[in-house]
Amino acid sequence: MSDLRDLYQEVIFDHNRNPRNYGVLDDANRKAEGFNPLCGDQITIYMIVNNAGIIEKVSFEGQGCAISTASASIMTEELIGKTAEQAEEIFDNFHTVVTGGESDADIGKLEVLSGVKDYPTRVKCATLPWHTSNAAINQLDEPVTTE
Ligand code: FES
Repeated sequence: MSDLRDLYQEVIFDHNRNPRNYGVLDDANRKAEGFNPLCGDQITIYMIVNNAGIIEKVSFEGQGCAISTASASIMTEELIGKTAEQAEEIFDNFHTVVTGGESDADIGKLEVLSGVKDYPTRVKCATLPWHTSNAAINQLDEPVTTE
């Protein structure tokens, strides 16, 4: 079990050090800002959603802790090629896992973040990028917060 935890930590460190899909997406047709008032961290999500409703590209930028940065990085990889409905389903399953709920769903690489369920304040770090993506997909104009 501790080997698995070490592996998960290594994946989180890797995504924090080398975040995937980091930066502005100039031709984005969806954008949203998210904010965690507890720490002041913020994130911006950019997306290109095509006419068929498929998320073609996702990127992010902002200031965040290792957990929020790793969560955002892994999230971008998971969302590419998905529909809004599929994205919502992944988030629901992920949210259940990180809040300690029962779930048999396969959440793929996001499993590395499952340990945050033991640290309630870190759940907001892990879910901040997801709430923000949800706002981008649904074209909500207001910035989202974790509170
Ligand atoms: Fe701010 Fe994690 S401490 S998002």
